Amino acid sequence: MADKPWSGVFDRATDRRVEKFTESVSFDCRLYAHDIRGSIAHANMLSKVGILTDHERHQIVTGLEEIGREIAAGHFQFRQELEDVHMNVERALIDRIGDVGRKLHTGRSRNDQVSTDLRLWVRDEIDAMSNRLEALQHTFLTRAERDANVILPGYTHMQRAQPVLAQHYWLAYIEKLERDRQRLADCRTRVNELPLGSAALAGTSIPIDRQMVAEELEFDGIVANSLDASSDRDFVLEFAFALSTIATHLSGWAEEWILWSTTEFGFIHLPQEFCTGSSIMPQKINPDVLELIRGRTGRVIGNLVSLLVLIKGLPLAYNRDLQEDKQRLFDSVDTVAACLELAAPLVAGAELNRERIAARIEEGYLDATTLMEHLIVKGVPQRTAHEIIGNLVAVAMKRGVPLAKLPLQEFQSAHPSLDEAVLDVLGTDRAIEAFSSYGSTNPAQVAHQIELWRERLTNNA
Ligand code: ARG
Repeated sequence: MADKPWSGVFDRATDRRVEKFTESVSFDCRLYAHDIRGSIAHANMLSKVGILTDHERHQIVTGLEEIGREIAAGHFQFRQELEDVHMNVERALIDRIGDVGRKLHTGRSRNDQVSTDLRLWVRDEIDAMSNRLEALQHTFLTRAERDANVILPGYTHMQRAQPVLAQHYWLAYIEKLERDRQRLADCRTRVNELPLGSAALAGTSIPIDRQMVAEELEFDGIVANSLDASSDRDFVLEFAFALSTIATHLSGWAEEWILWSTTEFGFIHLPQEFCTGSSIMPQKINPDVLELIRGRTGRVIGNLVSLLVLIKGLPLAYNRDLQEDKQRLFDSVDTVAACLELAAPLVAGAELNRERIAARIEEGYLDATTLMEHLIVKGVPQRTAHEIIGNLVAVAMKRGVPLAKLPLQEFQSAHPSLDEAVLDVLGTDRAIEAFSSYGSTNPAQVAHQIELWRERLTNNA
């Protein structure tokens, strides 16, 4: 009975099935280092405001540090009947230093404690995730520097549309990953506020100093309302959303490369050490890693939805439902981390099949839009130019040739202002050169962006 820190009011022992059903230590033990860090800051503060003597503070801090080392070394026995990491650490402290340990939980509750631990943990994971994203950006940038002069078809509706430099593709992913990092950084500002000191839900009559704890734990601010502090999991939702967006970006990329690695496309060779084979078909080299990156996105999005549903019906303040946030969050972090860590070597190790791409690049009339724009610049209204070039494409299609192979008189009879100058914009090389708008796939624009990113990513490093 006396085993439970809360057993005073009870005269019957907890049913074993309830212990098993309600425990969280099997997964929240992952928070132990942050729990200990938070408790040390709390003890330091309690001594400053006169609740603990300096000697007591010293005993508590040393005890907690020893427990941290024991857990790290794998020598600590977590006990299910002590519910969670918080009560396991606290009990170990009391076992180690006796009654002084019983003073640690002054002016706090597990409700603000768990929120503090989780914010500290999320903060670290945000930083680690941002570094993984940056590493992947670097990898795409290195590819961009390597894959000069490769023109790929750009697609809309999965139909050949306009020519695009391979480098422009890689830059597109660098941009997406940058927004992912910005989302994490933005989320971090709201994560980085201290809930500790809101105690169970209403605050405490103990003369605590929250500012001091915030400073020691490197929080930028303090959550102002105790009811809000102990119940808020917006930071978990935001992080889970940011992770879902990363997963979604990776999934789109994975899908694209799966297609590109097919015999039908033949654009890319994936590094063999990141492929697997078939147990029946001897010739198969399958893009399983990419497929699993795409597949695991479902899991990460599922976790976000689980969290939203978990929180949607909760009245103020703490409800035990909130304990269910951790596994979903941990799973999203682990999944996205693993995907990012495999994406980088895949991006680095793949090879574009330059000959194969070049052999078919003049198929699909990728230069038709540039030719239309050529006509527009000569004063023909866009709708008219669209029609005229559409007709020309139809003629070329019927003959089975690219636009550049039509005789000049075809162009002239389509519109008198179409003369030999059409050759300046026909063919994917010329079409690429003809682009001029900021952010376009024009080689000079692309080179400029590569330079900007090189600077930006080195400065961040
Ligand atoms: N293990 C709990 C959780 O993760 C800690 C808070 C429990 N608070 C309580 N009053 N039972 O949410």
